[in-house]
Amino acid sequence: MTERPRLLPLLGHTGRDAMTCLYRCGNACDHPVPNRTDNPYLGDVVNTEMSRRGVVRAGAVGALVLGFGGAAAGAASPAAAAPAAPAAPVADALLETLSKGKAGPLTFKAIPPNKLDNFIVPNGYDSAVVLSWGDPVLAGAPEFDITAQSVRRQSAQFGYNNDFVGVLPLGRDGRRALLVVNHEYTNEELMFPGFTSLDALTVDQLKIAMAAHGLSVVELERVGRTGQWQPVRARRLPYNRRITALETPFAFTGPAAGSAWLRTAADPRGRTAIGTLNNCAGGVTPWGTVLSGEENFNQYFVGGDGAPEALKPKLARYGISTTARVPSGSRRWDRAQERFDLAKHPNEAHRFGWIVEVDPFDPDSTPRKHTALGRFKHEGANVIVAKNGKVVAYMGDDERFDYLYKFVSDKKYLPGDSAHARRHNLTLLESGTLYVAKLTGDSPAEEIDGTGKLPSDGAFDGTGTWIKLVSGNRSYVPGMTAADVLTFTRLAGDAVLATKMDRPEDVQPSPRTGKIYAAMTNNTNRGVGTNPGVDEANPRNANKHGQIFELTEDRGDHTGESFTWSLPIVCGDPADASTYFAGYDKSAVSPISCPDNVAFDSAGNLWISTDGNALGSNDGLFATAIEGSERGHLKQFLTVPVGAETCGPFITGDDRSVFVAVQHPGEISGASVEKPASTWPDGDFAKPAVVVTWRLDGGPVGS
Ligand code: FEO
Ligand code: CA
Ligand code: CA
Ligand code: CA
Repeated sequence: MTERPRLLPLLGHTGRDAMTCLYRCGNACDHPVPNRTDNPYLGDVVNTEMSRRGVVRAGAVGALVLGFGGAAAGAASPAAAAPAAPAAPVADALLETLSKGKAGPLTFKAIPPNKLDNFIVPNGYDSAVVLSWGDPVLAGAPEFDITAQSVRRQSAQFGYNNDFVGVLPLGRDGRRALLVVNHEYTNEELMFPGFTSLDALTVDQLKIAMAAHGLSVVELERVGRTGQWQPVRARRLPYNRRITALETPFAFTGPAAGSAWLRTAADPRGRTAIGTLNNCAGGVTPWGTVLSGEENFNQYFVGGDGAPEALKPKLARYGISTTARVPSGSRRWDRAQERFDLAKHPNEAHRFGWIVEVDPFDPDSTPRKHTALGRFKHEGANVIVAKNGKVVAYMGDDERFDYLYKFVSDKKYLPGDSAHARRHNLTLLESGTLYVAKLTGDSPAEEIDGTGKLPSDGAFDGTGTWIKLVSGNRSYVPGMTAADVLTFTRLAGDAVLATKMDRPEDVQPSPRTGKIYAAMTNNTNRGVGTNPGVDEANPRNANKHGQIFELTEDRGDHTGESFTWSLPIVCGDPADASTYFAGYDKSAVSPISCPDNVAFDSAGNLWISTDGNALGSNDGLFATAIEGSERGHLKQFLTVPVGAETCGPFITGDDRSVFVAVQHPGEISGASVEKPASTWPDGDFAKPAVVVTWRLDGGPVGS
């Protein structure tokens, strides 16, 4: 029997609107937690081997950072002016050392929490929309007209619900850049005038939604000498590109490519996939490509009830219903393309849930899905070059009670812009070793009481190990082949008793210190009913507001297998005793709820964006020092309009511009094009958009 998509009560789970719950993750909170394994929680194990904390210092040696050329006025770069897409200089322009950074201590005056239907920045700053849904991307694409949407138009225009934002310098003069943006999902209620129900959408509308997914690559130019950027408008735009869920071909790489799990009617060789789904966060690599995480891909499929019995537990572990023909929250794309029906094409689901790599400097390149980085609900991936030259990607699986991962490449990064180096670096994520994190707290389990009260040693902290799952074609998980481990990575994590986290979202190394920061967004199921209870890394029951997790690799070795960790920030209202801001005076910090994405400026300040504020304010972007006496002095930098979450964020290497993606503005139950809950940005109806913020006096943002 068909389950109808449900719109839940006005406020969904964790303070999110019910419309967000439906469209973003297919009402995931309503479904059973997919991780039903009974891994022990780290509170079960008290580590007596304490106090490695303080001894271990991650060195920044060898840690490379994305830079920007100077912003001196000058002609457009030769690359940008070239008649066709050339091989642009990449690595040298990207890999500026931190000594060129201009950011310093955060001196901006925090803005207050608010519910304004506007984009709010501190005094002394300005902001502007860079691109919004429907803006032309490909040369010659028509201007947006909400009453004249078509598959052809949307395939050439900026997609919906921008999430990840990367800005890569184009040339060396700091005047041109490539903006790469993910389009995570669509909200048909707010896209199509006269919307009545998902079931009533025409096949053409379903295909428009598919074309509104994916990624956009857009060439930008600096506005004068400011920190503002705008799209280049020209007759030829050689780099501009749309990648969609509808028809863009992808190539699989790595040990699971060609495996039986990836063979489908459309591709009996198991080497290719059509499109990318639910691209959430991501990262820019040191070699000038973009990584993008395929997250809640499960909600696009129907027919799991008709899949082979032996496959059903694997599908279920990824949140795919194996009991309903059409699960709640389904987008019914099977009505447009049969491949979304698992009863007919059970392996199609395995073509999604990967880390995708896109080379924006080569618009003709085939984007790739790297099986060596495993398959789960990938939030994103961020890469650091280890001291020994190997590259290490840190990743989170965004689901309640799922895991943290890292990938270590077999090959070493080659610096420089030579064609040889570039070709080599493009293969770095094709082979390596995948690990999952297991954590141990250093305080007695009875001191972790679920209220957020600090244990007697004054910190939620401990040690951890990276458990090897697979290395090249060799599996380390009994009973699973390498292809099994990589395709059903969650099951491999279960088998080795990885630590169940409170929804690991963005995970990113600080280019300044080499320490790794992860946003645990929330987990209202923690300790509730039969769900797992608290542990020292996930210390609050019914965790509504989330926490920031800090990981320090032992000896500063990102390729190693042991680390220490702590929680520098336990989020919420600072007046709430369960919150913690690294010991900083709580009367001086901003309330924060549901951290989602993290970023760094060149001084190493940690910037945190939020999704689903459960304190009654709009979502926003925050910043804090993470070293020294200002550690924990968190201040709110901006807020986004009503109903939106704050994605991105991206601080350019010259520290002069902060980009954020305003995702799902006006996503409030009952809203429509005709009755918008937000009229941002243009005063008529709500449109997702990428926004740039800069300092009016041209100085480094935040400082
Ligand atoms: Fe798309 Fe994990 O948020
Ligand atoms: Ca402790
Ligand atoms: Ca996210
Ligand atoms: Ca990030």
